[in-house]
Amino acid sequence: MALLELKDITRTFVNDQVETKVLKGIDLEIEKGDFVSIMGASGSGKSTLLNIIGCLDRATSGTYVVNGVLVDKLSENELADMRNREMGFVFQSFHLLKNLTARANVELPLIYRGMNGEDRKTRSVKALKRVGLGHRMDHYPKQMSGGEQQRVAIARSIVGDPSFMLADEPTGALDTKNTWNVMELFYELNKQEGITIVMVTHDTQVAHYADKIIWLVDGVIDRIEVVTPDKRNKVRAKAAMVIAEAKAKEKEEIEKGSVTESLTNAQSEKVASQSAATETEGKKPKGKKWSFGKKKSTASKIGEEKTDVAVNIETRDNIEEANKNE
Ligand SMILES: Nc1ncnc2c1ncn2[C@@H]1O[C@H](COP(=O)(O)OP(=O)(O)O)[C@@H](O)[C@H]1O
Ligand SMILES: [Mg+2]
Repeated sequence: MALLELKDITRTFVNDQVETKVLKGIDLEIEKGDFVSIMGASGSGKSTLLNIIGCLDRATSGTYVVNGVLVDKLSENELADMRNREMGFVFQSFHLLKNLTARANVELPLIYRGMNGEDRKTRSVKALKRVGLGHRMDHYPKQMSGGEQQRVAIARSIVGDPSFMLADEPTGALDTKNTWNVMELFYELNKQEGITIVMVTHDTQVAHYADKIIWLVDGVIDRIEVVTPDKRNKVRAKAAMVIAEAKAKEKEEIEKGSVTESLTNAQSEKVASQSAATETEGKKPKGKKWSFGKKKSTASKIGEEKTDVAVNIETRDNIEEANKNE
């Protein structure tokens, strides 16, 4: 049995009596340990498919089974629990809570599980160290570069040992150096720790970090491309060069004293926030909301979290709202 099984999945949106058929019959199986990219032109249905895989949205028809559980019949609360236990999410614009430190952001999914403070701390420290951010535990998002923020988000996505990780354009807001750093991290998490990854991207090079590329065309799977290790190694070799060049240049500039490290960070930050703004304006359909309100009481009871953060961490609308309300 595959980890994820989608059978004849369709998704049709109806707005003002206008029907838009976005997914038109998707059959897909993803095995434990797979690293899969979903590629396709803008508007081909990549995010719609990923949202269904992540139980953030429901299919119009078809069946979807996660780890042997048919999700179609689950209630909103059961879905929220499933997301929390089985999945980790990474989005283009990080979706960190700005008034929480890196470590507190990473702990959030564990709070919703009701885990005690000590275990949460141990786990979140371990996850942050795993992504190379042991020195940024107590930093707030705005004190970190875009690349660092995305690594915090990755730490948050793996802190609860999920069955799989879902990433929607995880490098879309990053400069080249950080893009390749993040992809190398994904690669390690998949190959060394066996974490299953499903990643949406429209960058061909990024897509080649996966073992398979699912090409979506107009809401159907056009073909599935197997990435040979040889092809992937070529992409990784180029990435290694970019990372080395960027590091050398940064070192040189810092030595010259013309640029400080914090300015470099501030620059990536700017790129990140611009990109996030574009995504929000351009993509988020009006009036669409995923709310899973019940989880709030768990957080409030534990009392370490701001009680107005009605967040089930992986739902991006809730994160945006929480940030707005602060
Ligand atoms: N809630 C919605 N209501 C109506 N149309 C939507 C909604 N969400 C997505 N769409 C449409 O579905 C199509 C595919 O969107 P999406 O999955 O975001 O594409 P991609 O991620 O491949 O760029 C687009 O034409 C988009 O406008
Ligand atoms: Mg998309």
